[in-house]
Amino acid sequence: MTLLKGKVAIITGAGRGLGAAHARRLAQEGAAIVVNDMGRDERGEYTADSVVASIREAGGQAVAHTQDISTVEGGQSLLDAALAAFGRADILINNAGILRDKSLLKLDEGDWDVVLKVNLKSMYAVTRPVFAWMKENGGGVVVNTSSPSGLVGNFGQINYAASKSGAWGFSNVLTIEGAKCGVRVWTLVPTAVSALTAPLMDAAMQAQLAPEHVAEVMVYMVSELSGSRTGHCLFASGHSVRELKLVSAPGIAGAGVDPAFTARSLAAAEEAIYRPEPTLTVMDFAK
Ligand SMILES: NC(=O)c1ccc[n+]([C@@H]2O[C@H](COP(=O)([O-])OP(=O)(O)OC[C@H]3O[C@@H](n4cnc5c(N)ncnc54)[C@H](O)[C@@H]3O)[C@@H](O)[C@H]2O)c1
Repeated sequence: MTLLKGKVAIITGAGRGLGAAHARRLAQEGAAIVVNDMGRDERGEYTADSVVASIREAGGQAVAHTQDISTVEGGQSLLDAALAAFGRADILINNAGILRDKSLLKLDEGDWDVVLKVNLKSMYAVTRPVFAWMKENGGGVVVNTSSPSGLVGNFGQINYAASKSGAWGFSNVLTIEGAKCGVRVWTLVPTAVSALTAPLMDAAMQAQLAPEHVAEVMVYMVSELSGSRTGHCLFASGHSVRELKLVSAPGIAGAGVDPAFTARSLAAAEEAIYRPEPTLTVMDFAK
């Protein structure tokens, strides 16, 4: 029995990498896929077309959409393409993303704007029309792609990290709004070998961190295997799968309820305010 028979999945940035792995794996489970990607290969062909061809060769259903999804027009046209081809939109995976790595003092306005536009504004541009359709048609599942860099920081990625922690905040609110109309929401924090990192890894490491391992987690997230779960943030790589959560130290009473509260008492209570918790770094996500 396939898990996604009759479902239609829209995946942004699915012409290569993680998005292509999600597309192929969801298609194996019976979903019809709208493969969005504006990227082209070295021959000048849209990468989305070759992913669609591979899905069809394997007996699946897919269409390509090659517009920029960082604009409101692009987002609407992506939903329109799904409805024109398959008549539904049950699953949305906001996956498209770019890097323009520079430390803050070397980062110009253009590098800031384009990363925020592609990585974060696209979530607004695509999710808004798709969410409206889901709301009117019995619900759905939305997965927003964040990054370890967005949650714990990484040198030289201030624009990227801001966009990716934005994805997490976007998910948190969408979870609350989606609960009213049957839309489940996840944040995915992946690690996988990419076009950039593959040449730096040996074959064994590439196999361990293949995007296909993350796509397996995606099937769990968007199918009935995860039941009514919503609002979770999952780290997923070939090395491990685990929920990531915000932690709060016990803290101390504030000035409004404790007349003895002063800046000096705050300094004396640091143990309760900053109770040592395991501190994650980007390197922890390599395990
Ligand atoms: N690979 C990792 O280890 C890793 C780690 C953390 C987060 N991520 C995130 O996962 C997602 C996928 O990463 P990947 O490694 O597969 O990257 P990738 O570069 O291989 O794929 C991203 C795709 O998005 C497409 N794209 C970019 N801008 C677009 C736009 N405006 N409209 C349509 N398509 C657009 C690109 O053409 C590309 O094919 C990204 O959001 C990335 O930030 C990846």
